[in-house]
Amino acid sequence: HVADKRSFRHFMHKEIHEQPETVALWVARHLPEGALVALPLDESVYEGVERIQILACGTSRHAAQVGAHLLEQLAGLPTAVFYASEFRYAPPPLEPHTLTIGVTQSGETADTLAALAMEQDRRFLVADPAYAPRLLGITNRPESSLGRLVPHLLDIGAGIEVGVAATKTFLGQLLAFYGLALAFAERRGGTAHPLGGGRTPAQLRELVEQLRALPAVLQRLVDDHDRCCAELAHLFADTQDVIFLGRGINYPIAMEGALKLKEISYIHAEGYPAGEMKHGPIALLDARVPVVSIAVPGTVFEKVLSNAQEAKARDAQLIGVAPACPDTELFDVLLPLPEVDELLSPLLTVIPMQLLSYHIAAHRGLDVDQPRNLAKSVTVE
Ligand code: G6P
Repeated sequence: HVADKRSFRHFMHKEIHEQPETVALWVARHLPEGALVALPLDESVYEGVERIQILACGTSRHAAQVGAHLLEQLAGLPTAVFYASEFRYAPPPLEPHTLTIGVTQSGETADTLAALAMEQDRRFLVADPAYAPRLLGITNRPESSLGRLVPHLLDIGAGIEVGVAATKTFLGQLLAFYGLALAFAERRGGTAHPLGGGRTPAQLRELVEQLRALPAVLQRLVDDHDRCCAELAHLFADTQDVIFLGRGINYPIAMEGALKLKEISYIHAEGYPAGEMKHGPIALLDARVPVVSIAVPGTVFEKVLSNAQEAKARDAQLIGVAPACPDTELFDVLLPLPEVDELLSPLLTVIPMQLLSYHIAAHRGLDVDQPRNLAKSVTVE
């Protein structure tokens, strides 16, 4: 049976450890020698697209937020992300030449399916072909209801995920967005876009090279952080609130860290863009509230570090997900990151988010794979 825990106590732990393989498989399938990227999509998916909207729920929405960052910064395509449940009842005014992407690992989430169907229906009513529906799904279950609803699919091929809290399917969704952003960037000339965003062909090739090398990097990271997070878990025995901070492409990863912790440890957590902390959450901080700060060298490194410094000044226990260097000595605990292009960093920074919540929940003796009140796919509104 595929759903075998092997030597792991929980499926979630096993699935976290499967992620280097998830990446290796994806690289082998979609980053062939001699091409930038190869996705099994019809050319019509790309043609004439001027903007993108993404509909999703939960963890899938966080992958969509990373995806939006990539589509804007790599391909120069304006991209908006919606909670599917909100989009259903307050869709934005229609715009032409729009690709709508639905992201759901199960392919069965009722809100996501209904939002996509609604978007399709309202676009069918417009005579102007510029407004015609163009739907793409990203899922781990191509045979699902999503597969029947949309004409184009990216199968993330992550294999069965048993743990209710998504881990390897999240990574698979991220990879789908890396592929899509690279494919659009290549078709849009691979040049820095005059209206903002975009990368040169050389920069795109460099990113692909780093992606090819990622499985080995990820393997070391999973092993190292597994040990570190297991040792850290006891620090959270009485913790009631945790703040996760990130900026830029790692803001959605901070959100995902907080969601994971809530889902399986039942600890209240908030993910915040680090620069917003001073506008509210800073009031919560004291020695009892740990702050997990994701600080990756690049556009916002110094900014995130100075936000972390502000938290430290309020006696917060600081856990850094950051490279080991003199700048990061302010952290009480460091979960060290290897050197990587900032744009690829979510593929690494999500690992300590998953492992922290896993070990905290396991240390508390909770039912990690079947958290209370949650289901693997939510087929009701
Ligand atoms: C449920 C799960 C979440 C998941 C969400 C969306 O609420 O508990 O972990 O992120 O559904 O699932 P989907 O299958 O649409 O990605």
